[in-house]
Amino acid sequence: MKVTVVGAGGNVGSTVALTLAQRDFAKEVVMVDIERKEDDKTFYPSKGRALDQWESAPIHGFDTKLTGTVDYKDTKDSDVCVITAGVPRKPGMSRDDLLEINARIVKTVTEQLVEYSPDTIIIVVSNPLDVMTYVAYETSGLPSDKVMGMAGILDTARYRAFLAEELDVSPKDIQALLMGGHGDTMVPLPRYTTISGIPVTQLIEENKLESIVERTKKGGGEIVGLMGTSAWYAPGAAAAQMVESIMLDQNRIFPCCVWLTGQYGIEDLYVGVPVKLGYGGIKEIIEVDLNEKEQQLLDESASAVRSVLEDFKKLMKK
Ligand code: NAI
Ligand code: 2OP
Repeated sequence: MKVTVVGAGGNVGSTVALTLAQRDFAKEVVMVDIERKEDDKTFYPSKGRALDQWESAPIHGFDTKLTGTVDYKDTKDSDVCVITAGVPRKPGMSRDDLLEINARIVKTVTEQLVEYSPDTIIIVVSNPLDVMTYVAYETSGLPSDKVMGMAGILDTARYRAFLAEELDVSPKDIQALLMGGHGDTMVPLPRYTTISGIPVTQLIEENKLESIVERTKKGGGEIVGLMGTSAWYAPGAAAAQMVESIMLDQNRIFPCCVWLTGQYGIEDLYVGVPVKLGYGGIKEIIEVDLNEKEQQLLDESASAVRSVLEDFKKLMKK
């Protein structure tokens, strides 16, 4: 089993790679990034990170071989490719501000990945997530069940972590669902949130739950405000969890950004909904019942994604 992570000289990509290596199921993880030139010197961040992480193998106790490269030939025959290449958010920037620059990066990266791994599965992490996933889908020519984006696992993880803290329970016992785009319009679903099977609404006051839902929607911005750049530990772990479910054929059900063709009344758009992930990619898009309010929030979120998609299409015509 071979996994490629592009942008792996950066924060999210290197975390995906190390998390995968620590899970120790892949034969190799290839870490791709570009060269960086500074004061007449050339640096190779993906090679450096790969070497540093490989040197931790005897301590962590894993066999997965990590290698860094700037040459896509080394990615040949990858089973799964994770794209984290791009520019992260700085304070005051929305994910959508990254549109033009990251679209060009994701397009070039995807072209090179499918040249060497024409049957691969692609997981996009770069922002603005929903539209970057569309860019990879359109560029790759792969079927839609092999191209998906990571956001929902991260956003539900934030929601679950905040609930665990508020309720003073283990985060492991919190199950939750969240849909929509990866932006401030995302839709956490309290009706589908349980603590070991107990509906969360029985354990928490309504106003506290509402404030956790609001904090979740702005969870990415909260970290940017604290660090001056966006998060990587939880995002990296989330993308690695998707790779694991696919490669080990676990059939886990996660909210992922996928191509909808009428499900939830949404057509021809990449947006987050629950799916079954296993060998081959997306095995099933799961349609749960939504009440009127939930459907309205999902529609609003899908409209927000569609408007970024329209902006992207206009930019590409320039
Ligand atoms: P970073 O700046 O630490 O790493 C990005 C890496 O991409 C850099 O090492 C850079 O050299 C590399 N890169 C740029 N152009 C490239 C190209 N053409 N080919 C290969 N590599 C290239 O940024 P970070 O924090 O790792 O974030 C990466 C992306 O992930 C950003 O777009 C960020 O907004 C997004 N993100 C998405 C999340 C999600 O939930 N979907 C969560 C967190 C971050
Ligand atoms: C996050 O949610 C910025 O998308 C990034 O952390």
